[in-house]
Amino acid sequence: MSVFHNLKVKNIKKETSSSVVISFNVSQDLISFFNYLPGQYVSLKLLIDNKEVLRDYSICSSKNEVLSIAIKEIPEGYASSFLNNSINIGDVIMVSTPRGKFILDNNLAEDTIGIAAGSGITPIMSMLKTTLFEGSNKFFLIYSNKSPEETMFLSNLIKLKEDYPDRLFLNLVYTKIEIEKHYFGRINSSNISNLIGFENLHNNKIYICGPEKMLFEVKAGLEMNNVLNENICYELFKSSEENKFVTTDKGGVEIIYTVDDYTTKIKSTKEKTVLDSALDNDIDAPYSCSGGVCGSCIGRLKNGDIKMLKNTVLTDSEVSDGLILACQAIPVSDTLEVDFDDV
Ligand code: FES
Repeated sequence: MSVFHNLKVKNIKKETSSSVVISFNVSQDLISFFNYLPGQYVSLKLLIDNKEVLRDYSICSSKNEVLSIAIKEIPEGYASSFLNNSINIGDVIMVSTPRGKFILDNNLAEDTIGIAAGSGITPIMSMLKTTLFEGSNKFFLIYSNKSPEETMFLSNLIKLKEDYPDRLFLNLVYTKIEIEKHYFGRINSSNISNLIGFENLHNNKIYICGPEKMLFEVKAGLEMNNVLNENICYELFKSSEENKFVTTDKGGVEIIYTVDDYTTKIKSTKEKTVLDSALDNDIDAPYSCSGGVCGSCIGRLKNGDIKMLKNTVLTDSEVSDGLILACQAIPVSDTLEVDFDDV
């Protein structure tokens, strides 16, 4: 379960015309709650037009910097527009303790490869800076954007390259503007091994963060080059799929939920996900993206059968161990028991 604390906005920095970095003051008594690992994210509970809105944002600061997140403004994005345009230094925001399984391996002796597109750079930035500031290994970054103007952290990266010329390797890729010495075009399955450099491809951990299409293209390209699956870590920045499903089974289901040591039994329908049934019955199940991306809604299936519409978060062994994504789980059996505490 996420625990939220009120944090004061310490600083706001416009990164590009459509993105912003927000830093928070973490008081002494909260420091132990906000120890984060490079790659993790926090959830923000925002009150916009008297409506509570919950959103996840990756941490972009290195392990020992002031806790900072980066937010790219999405056209007509409710929360991202609010954070880009309506937040001031000194405002108080409810921020969850850090979470997430997309984490930099703490073996800072191996070289590391980061592949990012657009705002997918945010968790990779935390990994890159932690590597440079605390390790002695090299970091190879392949980073795709439409143009330099839309590249988040560009000046920061150029400065880091000057400070760590032998340890940071930047390969900036542009998709809309041709610029000398930079690759022009999209990162895909056929060019990824060239962009990384064959000599770096094997034995090193590769972290990918970006939109779904790029991510699966890159993953396919790495697999074609026999990169071990265990060396590929990825996080979908945003799901491009709608969370739609069709079920022919419109029967009823009885579900027992355990959340925060409290057990509740409800009756619902197999047309709803396990998460929707919980929320419709005022059960305080954890969730965030509702799209099978963030992993906030992980629960353990103690009894019964479900099918998952989509899963890019749990490993095969976690699934066989009984873990489910409640927002993606459709009841199959007539009774289910889901425990959100036992995860
Ligand atoms: S709520 Fe994000 S994966 Fe289910």
